[in-house]
Amino acid sequence: MKRVFSGVQPSGVLHLGNYFGAIRRFVDFQDGYDCYYCIVDLHAITVYQDPKELPKQIQDTALYYLAAGLDPKKTTLFVQSDVPCHAELSWILECVATFGELSRMTQFKDKAEGKESVSAGLFTYPVLMAADILLYDTDIVPVGEDQKQHVELCRDLAERFNSRYGETFKMPEPFIPQFGSRIKSLQDPNKKMSKSDPDPNSYISLDDPKDEIVKKIRRAVTDSGREIIYLPEEKPAIANLMTIYALCTGKSLPEIEQHFSGKGYADFKKDLADVVIQELMPVQERYKDYRNSGDLPHILREGAVKANQVSSGVLKRAKERLGLSLLIDPTQRKF
Ligand code: TYM
Repeated sequence: MKRVFSGVQPSGVLHLGNYFGAIRRFVDFQDGYDCYYCIVDLHAITVYQDPKELPKQIQDTALYYLAAGLDPKKTTLFVQSDVPCHAELSWILECVATFGELSRMTQFKDKAEGKESVSAGLFTYPVLMAADILLYDTDIVPVGEDQKQHVELCRDLAERFNSRYGETFKMPEPFIPQFGSRIKSLQDPNKKMSKSDPDPNSYISLDDPKDEIVKKIRRAVTDSGREIIYLPEEKPAIANLMTIYALCTGKSLPEIEQHFSGKGYADFKKDLADVVIQELMPVQERYKDYRNSGDLPHILREGAVKANQVSSGVLKRAKERLGLSLLIDPTQRKF
C-alpha cells in the first residue's frame, strides 16, 4: 500500500483554504492508502504561540481532521511533538541542507519580511517538514500550492543524503491538483487565503457561524462587470468565488457559468453562501460530536504509538548510514 503523509499547523483558525487545499483531500486518500496525518505543533512554535492557547489549538486541529471525515480506524492521526524522531531527524537533515537553499525559501522570505528579528526555527522550518515526510517512507504528500517549494526541498535533501551516505530515504511526490490548491483571500484575490491575515473578512473559518459566512461572502471583493464567468487572469476575484462554489457542489465551471447566466454577482453570492453553509454545517456538527465524545486523547495516543514505531525504524536506518552511535536504539524506546 502506498503511504501518504501530510500535516497542518495548529496555529489558529483553520479556513476554507486549509480545508479544500489539504484536509478534505486527506480524506480522499484514506481508502486504499496508508495515511499519516500530523498536527505539526513544532512548526507552529516557530512563531510565538500562547502556551495557554496552544493545547486548545492542537485539539481543535485534530477535531477538524476528524470532523472533515478522517476515520481513525483507517488513518494514523498524531501530534508531532509526541514523536521525538521528527526533531532528531530534522537536526540530521540540517547538517545536509545549505544556508543558501534555505535562504531561497519564499515562505521564509514572506514571513521574515519587515520583522526585526525572527527565530532560527522559522529559517529551518522546511527541514523539519522534510524530516516529517521522510520518516514515514512517504510516497505522496497532499498539500496546497504554497508548500510545493518545501516538498521540492525535501526531495533535494533526500537525494543528497542518499548519494552521500547510501540509499536511505524514499523519494516523495507532492500531490497538488491544479484546482483548489490555492484558494485566494476574499478581500484581495492576488493573495492566498491565510490565517495570518489581520482582516478576518479575508477568510472563512471552519467554525464561522452561518450569518458570518453570509456577511463575509457579501463583502467579498468582485471584479468589474457583472457576468459570472471563469477568467482567472482577467477576473481573479470571481474566479476564486467560482472555485469555492465548484468545490462545495462538485459542479464543473461551465455548469456554474450556465446556471448563473443572465444573473448578477448578488444572486451568485447568495447561492455561494448557501453552498458554503451546506458544506461546513455538517463539519461543525461532527466537530461538536467528536469534542463531546472525549475520544480524542485515545485516538492521538494510539496514533503516536504507531507513528513512533514507523519513524524510529527510519531514523535508525539514517543513523546507521551516518555512523552515529546506536547504543540507544530508537526502535527500542518505550512509549
Ligand atoms: P499550513 O498549516 O500553513 O497549511 C495546511 C495545509 O493547507 C494548505 N493551505 C492552502 N491550500 C489552498 N489554499 C490556501 N489558501 C491554503 N492555505 C493553506 C497548505 O498548503 C497545507 O497543505 N508546512 C505546512 C505544514 C507541514 C507539512 C509537513 C505539510 C509541516 N510538515 C509535512 C505536509 C507534509 C504548513 O505550514 O501548512
